[in-house]
Amino acid sequence: IADVQDQIDHELVSKEEIDHKIHEVAAVVSEDYKDKDLLLLAVLKGAVNTLAAFAQAVSIPAQMDFMSLSSYGSGTKSSGTVTIRQDLSTDVRGRHILIVEDIVDSGRTLAWLVEELKRRGAASVEIFALLEKPARREVDVDIKYHGYEIPDEFVVGFGLDYDERFRNLDSIAVLRPEVYQGANE
Ligand code: PRP
Ligand code: MN
Ligand code: MG
Repeated sequence: IADVQDQIDHELVSKEEIDHKIHEVAAVVSEDYKDKDLLLLAVLKGAVNTLAAFAQAVSIPAQMDFMSLSSYGSGTKSSGTVTIRQDLSTDVRGRHILIVEDIVDSGRTLAWLVEELKRRGAASVEIFALLEKPARREVDVDIKYHGYEIPDEFVVGFGLDYDERFRNLDSIAVLRPEVYQGANE
């Protein structure tokens, strides 16, 4: 199996750009939440890399929790019905939550999650999305902290996967076409 770097066609967001944006947003969040008890919530698995880097860049004490969600629907179309594969370990009643996501595509996962957290009694729910694909948005999601907008290309890296692989790449990139055809193994 070829080295990860050899399977990249082109890079969209460099590790330096990712690092810069995460620190920029973390400074704003640290100020916005300086008088609040902040809970950082990552949606597994894609948000793990972003959460790890972001949590270290935030300068106030913050808690972290994780939720694993799976979106049901036939084929490529998400139905918007979300099932919890693994729930939070924290009671979120009265908590100030910042959801950290790697990418917002249709917006269906986040739209469901924001409503669910409010149903559970969260005091506030905001979102930081490292990447957004505006061309693919299907439902309205109110994102407070923005990262980078990217074109409607299939991207991997920094948590994002193709068939569960390439999450460990340290930048955001588009794979070579052969990888999708399985001809590069
Ligand atoms: C990806 C990504 C977001 C979601 C965005 O997760 O990490 O969580 O899809 O899509 P949406 O805006 O259309 O809901 P995925 O379901 O692939 O799971 P993963 O994080 O485990 O890769
Ligand atoms: Mn995800
Ligand atoms: Mg995925």
